[in-house]
Amino acid sequence: MIKASIYGASGYAGGEILRILLSHPKVTIKQATSRQFAGQMVSQVHPNLRKKTDLVFSNPIELKKCDILFVALPNGESMKYMNKLKILSKKIVDLGADYRLRKKEIFENWYKQKHQNPEMLKKFIYGIAELHREEIKKSSYIACAGCEATVSILSLYPLVKHNLIEEKIIIDAKMSSSQAGLKPSLSSHHPERSGVVRSYMPSGHRHTAEIIQELSPFAENFDVAISATAIDIVRGLLVTIHTTPKSGVTEKEVWKAYRAEYGNEPFIRIVKEKQGLYRFPEPKILQGTNYCDIGFEMDNVTKRLVVIGAIDNLVKGTAGQAVQAMNIMYDLPETMGLEFPGLHPI
Ligand SMILES: NC(=O)c1ccc[n+]([C@@H]2O[C@H](COP(=O)([O-])OP(=O)(O)OC[C@H]3O[C@@H](n4cnc5c(N)ncnc54)[C@H](OP(=O)(O)O)[C@@H]3O)[C@@H](O)[C@H]2O)c1
Repeated sequence: MIKASIYGASGYAGGEILRILLSHPKVTIKQATSRQFAGQMVSQVHPNLRKKTDLVFSNPIELKKCDILFVALPNGESMKYMNKLKILSKKIVDLGADYRLRKKEIFENWYKQKHQNPEMLKKFIYGIAELHREEIKKSSYIACAGCEATVSILSLYPLVKHNLIEEKIIIDAKMSSSQAGLKPSLSSHHPERSGVVRSYMPSGHRHTAEIIQELSPFAENFDVAISATAIDIVRGLLVTIHTTPKSGVTEKEVWKAYRAEYGNEPFIRIVKEKQGLYRFPEPKILQGTNYCDIGFEMDNVTKRLVVIGAIDNLVKGTAGQAVQAMNIMYDLPETMGLEFPGLHPI
């Protein structure tokens, strides 16, 4: 059995890692850390895990050696501890932003802070399996992608790779409240958050840097902008991406590109039905699943190709992506522990 520990297990991403790994047939959980809840039952913080585990939170300073360590700390924290953590575990999967961007200057520019461990940057492989499977297989360090970046990259990758769209890409992202993590703030206070359709980041979203990094090898000089709106859901993320198809590109060619890249991918579904409520991707039915659903529509009047992508931000957007990468690193079936199909109705 693989002995896994989770650093930052009281948070939302850490809680999802626990939920998934507790049903994983090849993993046993060694430690789950929390400073605030050290000594308390994990199920007191994550009530969905009652009767699934008797595990008690450890203080991070008590972390012991393990086979694989999942690090689910707020952005900017894991780089402070990474040199110590790599002594405790040969394999590390980081869910935060600290090792996603390969260049220190780009991290510092977008995150407005100095990178404290730049020498480790080149050791980390970006965690999206659909783009980096072979590198993940050979690596010991994985940096999971940001959730908007995950769904945007997966939605756009076949179009960019097959040279089907022009350089200008506009991503309209609808975000859930769990994306902000466990720590409360005025913006997450119920009277302020409930019922909102709040344009909270019309420009300058940090995940833009990841999207540019990952799509750049396939196209030069493309121009990506994200506009993010907070909406009244707890889990899930929907992107509506406005692109301009290259002259003469047909819907058939778009289908062909998606089929070529994702035909054998276990967690990518092309959702484009002619009728019915769920004819396009919808995050509601993806809750708890590791799927990324992608749909599209060619608008011949305005000459746009509109692409729609949906995920559960806490699963394919982070914890599920992390477990998928772990399965690849250990040469296990990639879907192991991630088979939950979701609920309907929900
Ligand atoms: N939420 C999402 O939808 C989402 C999606 C994609 C990626 N991620 C990434 O996942 C990471 C975790 O996000 P989250 O939403 O789970 O955050 P969160 O709910 O705030 O949880 C953070 C966890 O880290 C621990 N922690 C905080 N500061 C720490 C420190 N200085 N030293 C040690 N432990 C510390 C917290 O527990 P204690 O304070 O009790 O120690 C808690 O367990 C972030 O880097 C985020 O970018 C999140």
